[in-house]
Amino acid sequence: MLTKFTIAALAGDGIGPEVMREAIKVLRAIEKKFSLTVQITEAPVGWAGIDAAGKALPDATLAVCKQADAILFGSVGLPDRDPTIPKEERPERAALLRIRKEFGLYANLRPVQLPKALAHACPLRPERQGDGIDILVVRELTGGMYFGQPKKTEDYFHEEPQADEGATVIMKRAQRATDTMVYTTPEIERIAHVAFKAASLRRKKVTSIDKANVLENGVLWRDVVTRVARAYPNVTLEHMFVDNAAMQLVLKPTQFDVLLCENMFGDILSDEAAALAGSLGMLPSASLGKVSGELTFGFYEPAGGTAPDIAGKNLANPIAQILSVALMLRYSFGLNDAASSIEAAVAKAIGSGLRTGDIFSPHDTGAKKVGTREMGDAIAAAI
Ligand code: IPM
Ligand code: MG
Repeated sequence: MLTKFTIAALAGDGIGPEVMREAIKVLRAIEKKFSLTVQITEAPVGWAGIDAAGKALPDATLAVCKQADAILFGSVGLPDRDPTIPKEERPERAALLRIRKEFGLYANLRPVQLPKALAHACPLRPERQGDGIDILVVRELTGGMYFGQPKKTEDYFHEEPQADEGATVIMKRAQRATDTMVYTTPEIERIAHVAFKAASLRRKKVTSIDKANVLENGVLWRDVVTRVARAYPNVTLEHMFVDNAAMQLVLKPTQFDVLLCENMFGDILSDEAAALAGSLGMLPSASLGKVSGELTFGFYEPAGGTAPDIAGKNLANPIAQILSVALMLRYSFGLNDAASSIEAAVAKAIGSGLRTGDIFSPHDTGAKKVGTREMGDAIAAAI
């Protein structure tokens, strides 16, 4: 088994740098415990990239990523910064979406778990939480409306409705925005395989999300997923319209095991699911692409954003970033014990009552509010 790794660490903006610091702290503890050699190269991205090199994804940063065995990512995008920068050059598109496309990271895995100890942080009543929530969102990440062409905003003229018939027609200048939702059979097949494989190692149920009652994409999605399912006779497949899924998630989240979603639906439902698990600050994510036929090149990031309102105040929850390190060890390096060791350390810190503000509740007896750094220290110490 390989024990030497090179990692690109791209902290980015907002809370990115402070949660990345804690994740690296935990990774260093793992390195020691499991006798690994991890070389970490930090590089600027997002607004930090624009400030350092004039681009959200500086060439030097991309080069660091290409040489790495995996990319550990923080978060990018500050909505209030410089509205004059063209949208194509803003960090969300020029860094995050570009990396997803550049490295072919089509499989996004977002494991949502509500630990018993965090029942207070879940917005649902206890009887709806059942024995705990445990959902894996498998989100297609390089297709659909995010990338479909044409994608543009253009001027057009529309006829202003007139009060009386026969009045002079007035043409008014307006704008029209187009996004294109497009999926091909192979794109749907490959993400469906990821979902079925994941489900066969879990509770063996895939709920495939679509809007087949309205969208052409939905009809194709449903057909292809149904066909792929035949190769996995031990996994149950269920189809669900996305609007119903949004409702079912709050009514009975325990019915779900693996949620298979196209890009946009997965974006929306994974935020909703994360809220059920206490906080977006708890949700890690792995975005995987193929290297010599295996789905092992990965980009690991918290699913939440930059949270500029709390950035730099030692308030952010570092757990999503720390759990992203666990996903990296598991999916890119096959180090299951090291990954489990991080997950156990997180469970221990939470079990001992430590809470960042987002998961703190005054009704939670024994809970103690701590900062980003204290949470990171406790988890690193528990490794
Ligand atoms: C996510 C984020 C991104 C997305 C944004 C920041 C572009 O919301 O990873 O879920 O929409 O994919
Ligand atoms: Mg999102």
